Amino acid sequence: MSVELRPGTVVCGRWHGNAYRIERVAGRGATATVYAAWGPMGRVALKVAADEACVLVEAVTLRDLEARGAALGPFLRDVDEADIGGRPVLFLALDWVEGVPLNRFSFGRRPEVAAAVLEQILDVLERLHAAGLVFGDLKPANVLVAPGSPPRAGVVDFGGVTPQGRLVRAHSELYDRAAWGAGGRTADPAYDLFAAALTFLAAVIGEARLAAFFNRKRSVAALCDIIRADSRLAPYRPVLEPALHGRWASAGAMRRALAAASDAGLSAVPPRDRLTAGLVGACAVAVAWFLLASAAWWERQ
Ligand SMILES: Nc1ncnc2c1ncn2[C@@H]1O[C@H](COP(=O)(O)OP(=O)(O)O)[C@@H](O)[C@H]1O
Ligand SMILES: [Mg+2]
Repeated sequence: MSVELRPGTVVCGRWHGNAYRIERVAGRGATATVYAAWGPMGRVALKVAADEACVLVEAVTLRDLEARGAALGPFLRDVDEADIGGRPVLFLALDWVEGVPLNRFSFGRRPEVAAAVLEQILDVLERLHAAGLVFGDLKPANVLVAPGSPPRAGVVDFGGVTPQGRLVRAHSELYDRAAWGAGGRTADPAYDLFAAALTFLAAVIGEARLAAFFNRKRSVAALCDIIRADSRLAPYRPVLEPALHGRWASAGAMRRALAAASDAGLSAVPPRDRLTAGLVGACAVAVAWFLLASAAWWERQ
């Protein structure tokens, strides 16, 4: 049972002596509550454990990634325990990652934006896989997105990272290959690529709709039907379907195919639409010139 920390509360580490001032709750997950906080190293994400064993595993994993030179960030700045609600509670101080979880990021469910996010996810996965690891618990809640063009995406929650060949340490049912009957739970790169494809799909069609499909019919064939029924997803089919069938050789191969599909998606905008956009733009410029010229003429009168 975790105790909610109010804004302004100061959390003091018992062993390293660092003090953190709580700003607000940043998010809640299955194992912890994460706070935006200020500490000696600046702004941090203070991950206060509800499930101490899981959070400890995450700390050990992050230290291990650093030792192998495979840490991708957010980096672990401190691990300590503090007296919270009258008992010692484990916490981690992590680099602050800007953005909101992909499942709450508003982008009009545009596939091209989701594709830009997916490209960045695949980049992270490619580097983890190269280190012999699998992310495990990939889902929209573990992807933080900051607006921009393209939007910037960061992956958080390394508690599920598992050495390849073992059983994945943590997973979420909706994004789990085994739950969809698409394979086992052995940590291999394809496990992450399946979850990456579903993360993209959830971003475009909505997590609630994906969950409704999951409750009705759990199969790769059903997922392919969803993709085929949505014309906006047509350019991405050659990327998503092989991921659902476990056919990509690597995250890099999937990322390169996605980049090609994104280009195709953009050039698939009908020429008439581009012409209309061009005419609207030209009219706007003409109106602006007319207004400026009129203002100048009135000033001279
Ligand atoms: N480094 C971070 N920077 C900013 N926000 C974070 C960070 N880590 C986690 N969060 C926020 O806290 C939420 C829960 O964190 P997470 O690490 O996923 O916890 P859990 O292990 O319990 O799932 C995330 O969805 C995100 O909104
Ligand atoms: Mg999480």
